[in-house]
Amino acid sequence: MKQLWSEQQSEQDLMRNRELISMGKMPRHCAIIMDGNGRWAQERSKPRVAGHEEGIESVRDIVKVSSQLDIKYLTLYAFSMENWKRPQPEVNVLMVLLERYLRQEIQELHDNNVRLNAIGKLNALPKKVNTLLHEAMEKTKNNTGLFLTLALSYSGRWDVNRAVQLIAHDVRRGKLSPEDITEEHFATYLQTHTMPDPDLVIRTSGEMRLSNFLLWETAYSEIYVTECMWPDFRRNAYYEALRDYMTRERRFGKTSAQIHNESSKSVFQKVMDAFHPLS
Ligand code: IPE
Ligand code: IPE
Ligand code: MG
Repeated sequence: MKQLWSEQQSEQDLMRNRELISMGKMPRHCAIIMDGNGRWAQERSKPRVAGHEEGIESVRDIVKVSSQLDIKYLTLYAFSMENWKRPQPEVNVLMVLLERYLRQEIQELHDNNVRLNAIGKLNALPKKVNTLLHEAMEKTKNNTGLFLTLALSYSGRWDVNRAVQLIAHDVRRGKLSPEDITEEHFATYLQTHTMPDPDLVIRTSGEMRLSNFLLWETAYSEIYVTECMWPDFRRNAYYEALRDYMTRERRFGKTSAQIHNESSKSVFQKVMDAFHPLS
């Protein structure tokens, strides 16, 4: 039987979702550095792996709520290229959990119109995981709901470096001339070219760093750091982060007065358009 998330909202969730949506500035793309699984487990005298297992429950909840809130893009940093340096048994468990997540969730994601995407050096993943991931991407490629990206074996510098190599090849083959390499064109060579830059980056567990996540794309992202460990980060903590984001003024280098002016102008324009739709 299909588990439809749109039918699984409590009265309280519905009210809160309506309240958030009515604030009117929901991020289009939310990216999350899911950190603190190990410490969550340690605090409970459990093995680190227990934190990773519980962390999957947070993934389930945040994916579901993002879809219910009609957030268009959600990117989850699940495993960095640097994480390969962890003790082998921990890496093995993480790969097993990833495989299990993909096996168990893909049908439910598909039923809820989620399109699954992955970025990172995917061929470094165990063959089984890589195959499952590609099957899942293929199965969901025509879905039009939440665009869910898993960053796996990912490194921001690696992706920028890879883009430079691809560009160099195109220049050598005469497909591209150096003058045409604008910022916009450069970005089309990144693995993230199918999505807008993140509006909001959330990092759990209180660490104030990007840890090689989306280095190019986060140039103007709002950053929200919470002390909450990832396995404890569920919908209420997410609502808090979204509310905080929506109170911010994004200036992109301009002054506050300019931003105010532009937004009152755009309200004025909307009113004018309503009266004179063709003008
Ligand atoms: C995040 O939690 C999960 C991964 C990086 C795979 P950590 O495992 O980094 O947890 P801490 O930071 O050691 O608490
Ligand atoms: C960042 O967490 C990577 C992921 C959340 C997947 P880490 O725990 O690996 O980051 P550092 O090493 O503390 O910066
Ligand atoms: Mg960590």
